[in-house]
This record gives sequence, C-alpha cells and structure tokens, in this order.
Amino acid sequence: MAEVVIVPTPAAAGELVADEIVRLVRTRPDAVLGLATGSTPLPVYTALRPRLTGVDVSRVRGFALDEYVGIDPRHPESYRSVITREVVEPLGLDPDRIRTPDGSLDGIEHAGEDYETAIAAAGGVDLQLLGIGTSGHIGFNEPGSSFASRTRVKTLIEQTRADNARFFDSIDDVPRHCITQGLGTILDARHLFLLAFGEGKADAVAGAVEGPVTSSLPGSAIQLHPHVTVVVDEAAASRLRNADYYRYAFAHKPAWQGF
Ligand code: GLP
Repeated sequence: MAEVVIVPTPAAAGELVADEIVRLVRTRPDAVLGLATGSTPLPVYTALRPRLTGVDVSRVRGFALDEYVGIDPRHPESYRSVITREVVEPLGLDPDRIRTPDGSLDGIEHAGEDYETAIAAAGGVDLQLLGIGTSGHIGFNEPGSSFASRTRVKTLIEQTRADNARFFDSIDDVPRHCITQGLGTILDARHLFLLAFGEGKADAVAGAVEGPVTSSLPGSAIQLHPHVTVVVDEAAASRLRNADYYRYAFAHKPAWQGF
C-alpha cells in the first residue's frame, strides 16, 4: 500500500519532498531524478532551491515524464522549456544531464525507444515525481493506457487539453499528441512520489490510492509499486475513505523508517 501523507498546504508538501530529494543527492551525487511538469511539483522545486545551497548538484541527472509532440522546443510551454525554467536554471543543474522526450516530428517514430534506452543507460530513475490529471492520468498516460506501456506517442483527451489550455493563448494551440513515459516505465522507478492539491484532484486521488487497479484510472498503477509516497493536501484527500488511518499511521511513524 502507498504511504499517504496529508499535509496542510502545498508548500508543506514541497518541503517534505524536497528534504527527501536533498537526502538522496547527498548520498548519491549522480542520482537520477524523474521530473514532472504542471503546477503540482512547483512547490517541490521552490523548496529545493534554498535546500540545495552548498550541495554539489553537478552530477545530478534527470528525465522528464513527457513532452508535447510537434511543439517547438523553444516554445515557452514546451516541457523542455518548462523544465529548463522551473528546474534546471533555478537549481543550477547541468542541462546536458537533464532530458525530456524528443517531441520533434523528425524522428518521432523512434523517440520513445531512444528515451527508454537513455533511462536504462542511466541505471533507471531513483525518485520519480508525479502529479495526477483530473482524468487520473500520470505523465500523459490517459485512461486506457496499458500498465506495461513504455515511452510512446499518445493522443491527449479533450479534458486534458482543456485543463492545459491555461498555459496557452487558446485551446486550439494545445497540441493533440504527446510523447510520454509509459506506466511500465514509471513503475520501474525506485521510489514514486505522487502529489496532488485541491478539491479538483480528490476523485483522481481516491481512485488512484483506494480504487480498483484499472487502466481506466492510470494513476491506480501506483498500487502495483512497492515504494510509493502520496502527498496530498486536505482538499485532495477529502474523498479518501481511509484518511483517518493514514493520519494515524503518519503520526505514529517509527523515527527510523524514513520515506
Ligand atoms: C499534465 C502533465 C502531468 C501532470 C498533470 C496535472 O497534463 N502531463 O504530468 O501531472 O497534467 O497537472 P497539474 O499539476 O498542473 O494539475
């Protein structure tokens, strides 16, 4: 079962996860981070900045979950640009060690396989950050995605395009296709941190943590992983049936246990 931690604010979630990332990088300076985009991981990146002062990050490696297909990588909302702006630059990471899937049309047929090869060559992802979409998607694995899927091109559902339209001038500018790590790829990471904030994520969180394991709610794939930490605020936790138990377990967590 995933460990569920209910925190008062997104900032508190960011601090908790950032502490864990710093611990990882201190023990493993060439750690491989699985990076996520969207609004949800931003508090983690914000909390990381002061915590990484004096920590050698020159060898840290990273792989983003996904990218739009056909978007100019210099477009401010390409995930390459977002990762550069929100993560690489503020945290002082080496841009050559941080990859996003290549969404350019030229070579798109083998971009997924290339990305899988690169992740494997890095020795796999140590710690994977995940948000969750209102459809229950993780990465861009929309409902129906196979639990065995690897990095590949997917078609976005209209709800996801509408959710992400806020980052573009209009919904017409939101690409229809994406390239995303598969659920099988994500499940290979050694530790998953799934974060969610706000009432709008409450159903997706309840489905992912307590619902049936089904490709209709791709986030439920986390139930198949042996080491998952779900960090949510009260609103996102509001439909969890066992919320009281999660609070109790966290309050009585043995000091030696860590995350
Ligand atoms: C996007 C991303 C996901 C993200 C999700 C939620 O479409 N591809 O990786 O987790 O939607 O986004 P947000 O965190 O902005 O709510």
